[in-house]
Amino acid sequence: MRIALENLAATEALAARLAAAARPGDALLFDGPLGAGKSALARAFLRALADDPALEVPSPTFTLVQTYPTPRCEAFHFDLYRLTGPGGLHELGWEEARAGIVLVEWPDRLGPLAPDGALRVALHHAGEEARVAELSGWEGRL
Ligand SMILES: Nc1ncnc2c1ncn2[C@@H]1O[C@H](COP(=O)(O)OP(=O)(O)OP(=O)(O)O)[C@@H](O)[C@H]1O
Ligand SMILES: [Mg+2]
Repeated sequence: MRIALENLAATEALAARLAAAARPGDALLFDGPLGAGKSALARAFLRALADDPALEVPSPTFTLVQTYPTPRCEAFHFDLYRLTGPGGLHELGWEEARAGIVLVEWPDRLGPLAPDGALRVALHHAGEEARVAELSGWEGRL
């Protein structure tokens, strides 16, 4: 499924739709180059899931993971760009996080640990504020 996102508000609206469909055990994998909007998509998703438009959602660039309590379940926002070594994911609590909802930037770093049944969102630049999202997975759910 290909979705044109003409500005940040459109990306936030997509995030809210994804949050409405998400349930515990889900994995959402966000692909795309630097600045494509992976963190913006995650931020809007977490705010919608937490039902808190003012929720602070820093990019987990250096911590690699941030945890959020939400009414539905815990949610975990990973940015694996700086992940090093095969044990890294385990140290970040990946296995425990899978009981909740995981959002992953730079999911290619998951290698064989990429969950079956994940929703993949690939973001591409299509102008200053325009992006295109290619969604795959979650057949019949969206
Ligand atoms: N339609 C849009 N969707 C998402 N972000 C947009 C859009 N238009 C403009 N932006 C801006 O683009 C930037 C996207 O940055 P963001 O940190 O979300 O990218 P990223 O993909 O997470 O990059 P990185 O790989 O560095 O983590 C933000 O400054 C955001 O405001
Ligand atoms: Mg980011």
